[in-house]
Amino acid sequence: MEKTMKILWGGATAASQYEGGFTLEKGLDTQDCRPYLPRTSNATEETRLLTREKIEEAKNEASKQYYPFRNGTKGFEHLEEDIEYFAELGLDLYRFSISWSRLFPKGIEEEPSQEGVAYYDKVFQLLEEKKIKIFLTLNHYAMPIYLVEQYGGWKGRECIDHFLHFAAFVFERWGHLVEYWLPFNEINAGYFSPYNGVGLLKGENGYQLSDVFQALHHQFVASAKTIQLARKMNLPGRFGSMIACFCYYPLTSKPEDNLKLVFEEQMNQWYCMDILSKGEYPYYAETFFKNKNIVLQITEEDRKLLKENTCDFVSISFYTSSVITVDEADKTAGNLVVSTKNPYLKASEWGWQIDPVGLRTSLHRVYERYGKPVIVSENGLGARDVLTEKHQIHDDYRIEYMKSYYEQAQLALEDGVPLEAFIAWGIVDIVSAGSCEMDKRYGVIYVDADNHGNGSYARYKKDSFYWYKDFIKNYKKENID
Ligand code: BG6
Repeated sequence: MEKTMKILWGGATAASQYEGGFTLEKGLDTQDCRPYLPRTSNATEETRLLTREKIEEAKNEASKQYYPFRNGTKGFEHLEEDIEYFAELGLDLYRFSISWSRLFPKGIEEEPSQEGVAYYDKVFQLLEEKKIKIFLTLNHYAMPIYLVEQYGGWKGRECIDHFLHFAAFVFERWGHLVEYWLPFNEINAGYFSPYNGVGLLKGENGYQLSDVFQALHHQFVASAKTIQLARKMNLPGRFGSMIACFCYYPLTSKPEDNLKLVFEEQMNQWYCMDILSKGEYPYYAETFFKNKNIVLQITEEDRKLLKENTCDFVSISFYTSSVITVDEADKTAGNLVVSTKNPYLKASEWGWQIDPVGLRTSLHRVYERYGKPVIVSENGLGARDVLTEKHQIHDDYRIEYMKSYYEQAQLALEDGVPLEAFIAWGIVDIVSAGSCEMDKRYGVIYVDADNHGNGSYARYKKDSFYWYKDFIKNYKKENID
């Protein structure tokens, strides 16, 4: 079949998981406060849903805990080398995020930290030299801890203006260099991972759902305002929204399973993107809020902003699919959520069910719902790798995974879905956002570091590096030459 459009192939990192550089001028942020805990059934929950006490402990210099995001994988020191690798791979696109607290340590300063500015100047300059296009996430989970303590995270409306000040600086300084913008990473994470997503602390009774949805509302308004500002400034890039996408299946053909799927899918998956893409609150939200006694503070001005500043493209992270049933069934882990086991799928060591066909299905579902260009902004296999004595990493399992998902992405394009780009997550190994481990690696470039921060942090090419390099080269030959 004749190709109608070419997919850009990329790689991604996020500031908190990659950069390190913590002892410099950077302010403490939400990710810096998450300790590493050896893997047990609830370790992920304990490191993802923090309380005020945990923040106090993280601020205490005498704390015995190891805080892996303060090291990331030392991108701050290995930047040139990593970007050389990206160029050697032939990446069309690099997705990264700016650390809010590296530029504005508390999030409220008028002027940015010059050290932070100098670091990002270098990032942009190196990418420009290598002619790698930029996909920039303004906020990938981490927010200055000061804003959490002062305003209760995004629950406080004040965060909108502080975020806008941060965004305005980024726009003025680097705005002309960015092709794709994303105000918030996986915005629906705010619902199922409120500390990471919207900076809420866990109280004695967990989280108040009304806080979660009020905080999300503030992120929607912040997103709309950044788009409004960028358009006013005539920035060349286009703006997206992004959700963690799960491709839901009913466990059986029992009507109740399917009905439950509809409700889960609405609030877990589509809710945020419906608002950011269509510019208004969806009909189903009203009933959901009524049933849960949630009353949101939304002004007329907010509604107008949302309506007038919708996103240009939609993007998804896609790793795994989910199964829904009204009955008891075996569970497995997923991207920030727990799912029912799908008997037809294999899972990664971390329990994430591998479903390349689910990606193709999801790309259709997203396009038919929004009718906007689509980007896969994250995909990859989190796996344990072994570094041999000769500094090789034989990750054939990752190559298999990549092949299968990339094939389905191309099929979706042939089906007619306007898929503009496909971005491999954690292109160089980074700290896992869910479990704070180094053991869970996504990269095609290995970083010699362990869960406790030991290691040389030297980089080595995995077998998947050579596979991805060839794949991109051949793709370009077949689709451009
Ligand atoms: C997404 C996040 O949820 O999944 C990333 O946007 C994260 O930050 C990725 O790293 C993979 O999840 P994990 O928990 O394996 O790092």
